[in-house]
Amino acid sequence: MVLSTPKFFGRRKGRTIRKAKSFLLENFLNKVRLSPDTTFDVQKMFGKPVQKVFLEIGFGDGEHLAELSCKMKDVGFVGVEVFQNGVANLLSLITGVKDGQNLSEDIAVLSERADNVRIFDDDVRLLFKAIPDGFFDKIYLLFPDPWPKKRHENRRFVNPDNLKELSRILKKGGILQIATDHPIYKRHVLRTMRANKDFVWTAKTSADWRNPPQDWFETKYQRKALREGRRPVFFEYEKKFE
Ligand SMILES: C[S@@+](CC[C@H](N)C(=O)[O-])C[C@H]1O[C@@H](n2cnc3c(N)ncnc32)[C@H](O)[C@@H]1O
Repeated sequence: MVLSTPKFFGRRKGRTIRKAKSFLLENFLNKVRLSPDTTFDVQKMFGKPVQKVFLEIGFGDGEHLAELSCKMKDVGFVGVEVFQNGVANLLSLITGVKDGQNLSEDIAVLSERADNVRIFDDDVRLLFKAIPDGFFDKIYLLFPDPWPKKRHENRRFVNPDNLKELSRILKKGGILQIATDHPIYKRHVLRTMRANKDFVWTAKTSADWRNPPQDWFETKYQRKALREGRRPVFFEYEKKFE
């Protein structure tokens, strides 16, 4: 299937951003921000050299990324999100800066707390060309927008064009982790991934895709799905070696 030229999302702003988060967007985001001109170099692009690099596409409010980056200090995390409110929330989680506290925090101190996180606050497809082949050890795509209607099918992130890029930027043996709660998207992922020759589904039993993986931290959309009675699934694909 050949898809038409993608329509890029552009940065988006939703509900009003409160004081501490506005402070972080204005004064701190630039310290951790990536751009399509960034040189992707594990030795230089984070506050310190890292052993592995993980990418999370569409991190939403950033809870999963914040938790993992705090637990795995030798892993560099690249988070991508178009919504400024989500970016602001992630900045608050990784720096610990919240409303009601003194906002004169030293930016150098904040940078140290966030030294293994870098953020691209725009459509991830604009970043692809900057990323070298085999750069990431793991890619998370957690609860991507399902676009369940047939006429919106070509907006789904899991599609042959994006998978080609994800395969290119993932190491051989690297993991692509996809979670979804939507029945149509579950089938869409299984079908699209089965047709893709670069990845192999790692599940051996149904428990492997019914339960979250070990390093998991619940996301906002996952909680919403559970509240509304939808059961999420966790598909893990390995990039083939040959
Ligand atoms: C349904 S939400 C899930 C958010 C989060 N992963 C969670 O589980 O709570 C999907 C998110 O992906 C973001 N998104 C969709 N397409 C994107 C793209 N091309 N680049 C960056 N972010 C994207 C949206 O802005 C949205 O926040």
